[in-house]
Amino acid sequence: EHLDHGGYNSTAHDNVVVPSIVIEPHHDHEANVLDAFRHAIIQFLSFLLFIGLEDLNTQLFVKIRNGNKGQDFILHTYALSPFGDPESLAEKVISHELNPGCGDHISGVRRHKDYLVFTCHTQKLVKDTLLDIYNSPSYGFHDIGAKHKIIVEYSSPNIAKPFHVGHLRPTIIGAFTSELYKRFGWLVNAVNYLGDWGTQFGMIAVGFDKYGSEDMLQLDPCHHLYEVYVKISGDAESDPSIKVAAAEHFKKLELGDEQALAVWKQWRELSIRRYKEDYALLNAKFDTYTSEHDVRSEWQKHTTSLLETNDLLVDDFGTKRVKLDQYGLGAPVYTKRNGTSIYLSRDIAEAQQRQEDHGFDKMIYVVASQQDVHLNRVFKTLELMGVEWADKLQHINHGMVLGMKTRKGAVIFLDETIQQIKETMLDKLSLDGDDDHRSRVATELAVTALKVQDLSAKRIKNYTFTPGRIEGCNGVYLQFTYARLAGIRRRNERLLRDLDVHHIDLSCLDSPDVHHLVFLLATYPEVTVRTYQTHQPCTIVKFCFSVCRAVMRVYETTRVHGEPDLARAQARLLLFECTRQLLHSAMTLLTLRPLEHL
Ligand code: ARG
Repeated sequence: EHLDHGGYNSTAHDNVVVPSIVIEPHHDHEANVLDAFRHAIIQFLSFLLFIGLEDLNTQLFVKIRNGNKGQDFILHTYALSPFGDPESLAEKVISHELNPGCGDHISGVRRHKDYLVFTCHTQKLVKDTLLDIYNSPSYGFHDIGAKHKIIVEYSSPNIAKPFHVGHLRPTIIGAFTSELYKRFGWLVNAVNYLGDWGTQFGMIAVGFDKYGSEDMLQLDPCHHLYEVYVKISGDAESDPSIKVAAAEHFKKLELGDEQALAVWKQWRELSIRRYKEDYALLNAKFDTYTSEHDVRSEWQKHTTSLLETNDLLVDDFGTKRVKLDQYGLGAPVYTKRNGTSIYLSRDIAEAQQRQEDHGFDKMIYVVASQQDVHLNRVFKTLELMGVEWADKLQHINHGMVLGMKTRKGAVIFLDETIQQIKETMLDKLSLDGDDDHRSRVATELAVTALKVQDLSAKRIKNYTFTPGRIEGCNGVYLQFTYARLAGIRRRNERLLRDLDVHHIDLSCLDSPDVHHLVFLLATYPEVTVRTYQTHQPCTIVKFCFSVCRAVMRVYETTRVHGEPDLARAQARLLLFECTRQLLHSAMTLLTLRPLEHL
């Protein structure tokens, strides 16, 4: 539960639009700008109230809420109760002059409801944060992974089915997860484990004889094979002989029948080619394509023998089952009566094959929560078999996308969805440039809108997909804000080139709006670490929206271009440029492609 919390405290009316981020201090991140402020507050309190430093450290929260300016750090007065009467201690704090050390960092402390509220010294906050961002290209990330190897398996669609919106989540969340680990210093091997084996390919073969067309197959392989599959499955409901024929065909495939394999191979290749187009559109990258068929028989045999030595199999009239009853995981089928492998047995063998072929210090499976039990069985079985890396496996699960069917119940496919959103974009937004440029921009906006909708939902929750929603806080807003900042950079290239950050005078950056924006930027390293711990992309999405809103408020009143005072122009440019850098960093972490021009 704690893990899926994502660092957010939501109030009832608190959705993506009004995020409130509460970050508890933790110790597994590198020192960042905010630590110095935190430290100053704690020293002040400890000195004033005679309290040990460590006792307070874990109680001091960072709080960012839209509209709550000047509440940078908060301490619940309740946290003071172990040291005396909290009321009188709090009274003492607010009536006391801030001591000199604290005064450098903190400009004020006041009481707000049950909290003590500390405000950072704007000048110091602005200077330390902006210089830190400007000078470190990987601001927000540090080397936790230390070049350890990780496999992130994601997407893993079943071939011969087109990519529909339901397959999107493991792809979008997986691409993000893989990027997240890369940024934190892991050597990532992104694996796509295609579902290309199993009885359904027998079904398609039987169906293809009846409904298939070679021309249609070439034209649109995934749609066509899916159509065939749907039709034959319909027939099979009234005609049991179809399932028998399908099982026989699959058995042929398992035995290596050349003709059957040649046809299957063609389906597979055409499907992969088609998927790759979708992946390119979605900006999902893989280092390794593997599949259920590619699980080598030596590993299947090895698995079987380990299971037997450990007395983990039970024979059920020819069907072999794994004894997982005592772990609440039932007795799942391991091999069918006719000896063919199944999803579970392939997964167990595949994990060992991956360890052998690639080696890994950690392996993540980004797979829907409908498969929680399945993956628990895989992990438990490997543990009982005695593989020493069984504890290195992790399932990152996700909820479903609802509302992805038409009213008539047909699934909506990715390409159609993108097209639909794209048309809305072209219709409702006034985009510059020639048709070609507008079309490219609209496509990218559509992809962003789709992905952001997905990434904004809490990972384990289901959410309802609404195509064409472009108003409010969404991907379009994000891209527009980014493009604005990119525009500022473009228009002031010379000024930026001549910027001397060591001697820059930032004293004009003193408004509450700027303070709020910069404080947000300063939290980025804590937001990213939090995300690394929870695997919740929505934390980053909310951060992006907060930054967008904060920077737009500053933007409305602050010019760079045409500002006669050079020092002012430079300071403002630095602020916008740092904001652009962080937004770029956060958007690309979400695997979005920031648009420089709209
Ligand atoms: N192909 C499967 C499906 O679409 C998902 C595979 C998940 N990964 C795994 N190693 N079992 O249902």
